[in-house]
Amino acid sequence: LRATMTDGLGRRISYLRISVTDRCDLRCRYCMAERMQFLPKNQVLTLEEIALLADLFIARGIDKIRLTGGEPLVRRDIGDLVRRIGRHLGQGLRELTLTTNGTRLTDHAEMLAEAGVRRINVSLDSLNADRFAHVTRGGKLDQVLAGLDAARAAGLAVKINMVALKGVNEDEILPMLRWCDTQGFDLTLIETMPLGETGEDRTDHYLPLTLVADRIDAQHALTPVADRTGGPARYHAVDGLNIRLGLIMPLTRNFCADCNRVRMTCEGKIFMCLGHEDHVDFKAALRNDGIQAVQPLIDRALRLKPAAHDFRIGTGERAATHRHMSVTGG
Ligand code: GTP
Ligand code: 5AD
Ligand code: SF4
Repeated sequence: LRATMTDGLGRRISYLRISVTDRCDLRCRYCMAERMQFLPKNQVLTLEEIALLADLFIARGIDKIRLTGGEPLVRRDIGDLVRRIGRHLGQGLRELTLTTNGTRLTDHAEMLAEAGVRRINVSLDSLNADRFAHVTRGGKLDQVLAGLDAARAAGLAVKINMVALKGVNEDEILPMLRWCDTQGFDLTLIETMPLGETGEDRTDHYLPLTLVADRIDAQHALTPVADRTGGPARYHAVDGLNIRLGLIMPLTRNFCADCNRVRMTCEGKIFMCLGHEDHVDFKAALRNDGIQAVQPLIDRALRLKPAAHDFRIGTGERAATHRHMSVTGG
């Protein structure tokens, strides 16, 4: 019989998101500040430490792991970790996947597929090279498009993540949907969340997805589908297109009541909620007393999981949490 984890409110926790690095080769405006102070190496868990913690979480009942960052594929020797965690697939672990900006997929797509990854989420906010460079502060669109081709060639299913930004990529949402259809990708739209100071006023760019869904619906009727991936997106069939559209609306349609996940940062901190500062630090226990010292900390973390995030938009430009998305891994 598989172990299961339940939080203090009775929610089953089966999904672990692991941020393997806070570094990234891009600087998306809604995610990072222009100049970021990254963590010194000794504060970041080694790949071996991450693997040990992943083993423990899987033994406790986690059946879905997503690697995030920063950008997970900029971490040196990331393939070693993916293969190591991948060995749990089929025995406890149901899914191993990652969220990436796609810039290094040309080098890594095959490794991912060989390690047992079946689908990946790739962040892509614009199909216009200049605009892509603007949003990412210097990213090269061609590099990501080549990465997507490599993913397809390796047999990975792809879901595009697009953060919907008023006045930035609003006019590209329908074209993106149609483009994804031609590429055989799914698309998920995401409301921008106020995490970490980015030097931009997010209130200006906040676009409620209810509005966007109405606009899409006028062109391609949307029908909710029951499919759940265990993530926060609500999926829709899109009339006339062979694609699933996911909507992630933390602000307009809070999904915390059936939250199933916790997240571990590259420093070994467990955050029970993206929108709260409460966390439990595993690193000191792991380094001083070994993996067995972490067991009771998992139970403490589960008890600390809050009922819901408290993101607000429209209350000024201050971020809800001091942490950047790139540290917690989304
Ligand atoms: P699937 O497994 O494909 O459903 O992916 P996912 O949506 O779980 O993961 P992904 O990394 O693609 O995340 C998409 C967006 O959802 C990101 O902006 C995340 O920050 C956000 N997200 C994921 N989990 C949570 C959560 O628990 N709360 C909030 N507010 N946002 C979340
Ligand atoms: N709000 C919403 N989504 C964000 N992401 C990064 N920062 C934010 C934010 N402030 C997205 C990225 C990536 C996913 C992990 O989170 O675009 O697709
Ligand atoms: Fe990097 Fe992703 Fe943040 Fe963009 S959103 S800066 S790609 S971690």
